[in-house]
Amino acid sequence: MIFGGMRGLNFISLAIFLVLTTLQEAWSHGDQPLSKIGIHKATVDLNHDAYVKASPSVLGLKEQTTEWVTLEYSSPKPSADDWIGVFSPANFNSSTCPQEKPTVYPPLLCSAPIKYQFANYSSPKYKDTGKGYLKLQLINQRSDFSFALFSGGLSNPKLVAVSNQVAFANPNAPVYPRLAQGKQWNETINKAQVSTKHKLISFFS
Ligand SMILES: *[C@@H]1O[C@H](CO)[C@@H](O)[C@H](O)[C@H]1NC(C)=O
Ligand SMILES: *[C@@H]1O[C@H](CO)[C@@H](O)[C@H](O)[C@H]1NC(C)=O
Ligand SMILES: *[C@@H]1O[C@H](CO)[C@@H](O)[C@H](O)[C@H]1NC(C)=O
Repeated sequence: MIFGGMRGLNFISLAIFLVLTTLQEAWSHGDQPLSKIGIHKATVDLNHDAYVKASPSVLGLKEQTTEWVTLEYSSPKPSADDWIGVFSPANFNSSTCPQEKPTVYPPLLCSAPIKYQFANYSSPKYKDTGKGYLKLQLINQRSDFSFALFSGGLSNPKLVAVSNQVAFANPNAPVYPRLAQGKQWNETINKAQVSTKHKLISFFS
């Protein structure tokens, strides 16, 4: 009996572990550690012949909370250490940073990329052709996204081109199930506060 119960528990733990691991994998597959980026040193070297195109521009039209985005990019001066940064919120131009944004990376960026990948990741010939593509899985996190091509490697990034912005159709869709919502949420909170107060009072009196 006891063994059966424990096995059941172990099975549930394993199942939860597997689900979490899979979610983690889905998000971080093919990513590189962000700490290598010298975001404070970023400079602008926009090139009118370089571009990054992201499609589709509206995500989650079928209520999905994750979706694949395809990036197509080109640079007239490609190099092996060119990389693509993913930004969310999409506006990372420091001269138009949202005021409430607490972290600012001077002189150029409001925010650090949330992930990045080398431009040659799916296009081994990028260094020669200057053309590449990348597929990325995005999770609905209530902000829009943009993608930027950098040269100069990770340690001395130079912004070469910025993509169009993409966003989820319903940015407020819950990504993970919540315990309760709306009115019920209020009520739950209020009841919890009342009962906490009650407990505190009875504890101290
Ligand atoms: C892609 O770029 C990275 C970083 O510069 C390099 O380490 C890697 O060897 C390159 N891969 C290919 C296929 O060229
Ligand atoms: C940032 O915004 C300023 C002012 O709107 C503009 O002059 C500049 O080119 C922008 N920089 C980038 C990298 O888009
Ligand atoms: C829920 O909270 C909001 C904001 O805190 C308030 O305006 C609203 O009246 C509350 N609703 C209920 C049912 O308590």
